[in-house]
Amino acid sequence: METIKLDQIEKIYGRGASETKALSGINFTADAGELVSITGPSGSGKSTFLKLIGGILSPTSGELTINGQNYNQMTRAHQSQFRLDQLGFILQSYNLVPYLTVREQFELVGRVKPKHNLAPAEFKELCSALAIGDLMNDYPDQLSGGQQQRVAIARAMYPNPSIILADEPTAALDGKRAVQIMEIFQKIAHHQNKTVLLITHDSRLIKYVDRNYQIVDGHGQFVSKNDQSLV
Ligand SMILES: Nc1ncnc2c1ncn2[C@@H]1O[C@H](COP(=O)(O)OP(=O)(O)O)[C@@H](O)[C@H]1O
Ligand SMILES: [Mg+2]
Repeated sequence: METIKLDQIEKIYGRGASETKALSGINFTADAGELVSITGPSGSGKSTFLKLIGGILSPTSGELTINGQNYNQMTRAHQSQFRLDQLGFILQSYNLVPYLTVREQFELVGRVKPKHNLAPAEFKELCSALAIGDLMNDYPDQLSGGQQQRVAIARAMYPNPSIILADEPTAALDGKRAVQIMEIFQKIAHHQNKTVLLITHDSRLIKYVDRNYQIVDGHGQFVSKNDQSLV
């Protein structure tokens, strides 16, 4: 089942002299059960691409359909509810709330979205897979970069979204941890039938994905994972 479809998407930042065309002619689809990597040089439009899919930005033109629904046709309120129910976003900066403990980060999610989150046993399993079970009483500034990143990943997964969007989620992690995160993403995609999109610069991780989409200078195409020049 197709969960994400972009048809001739264009994104221009700014106006007039300060105009930047970040993306043009983007056609992309992903299915439930797929783990897809997004690669390309710095400044090529990868984060813009993910933010459009996440509804954080609006396209300048083109059609964007997520789980059969067109963002442009939704009200603002519907868009927010839709994002909350369907999308898990893992950003480049970890976005943890500095004055809340790890446990409270999850409780906050539970207050904003009280229903259909992971069951306690599933949550416990996720925390142990990410090795954050012992960090529940710590504040973000007591954690290493890698620990913060793992908490941010768990927090994005806790609401049980159908689509997970991750912007370089393994950047702060050592090689062994990065592989563990890729295995978790694989499991989520393949066993739970979710769509996972992941921006990465790490060519060693490409072997874990099902397909790779490369963005260069605002233009995108699917490229074989075996193409060594893709990251
Ligand atoms: N908020 C913004 N305002 C203006 N230009 C931006 C903004 N965000 C990104 N850009 C520009 O859009 C292009 C693509 O950026 P980005 O999507 O962040 O690329 P990547 O994630 O591949 O590094 C770059 O030229 C960047 O400078
Ligand atoms: Mg980026």
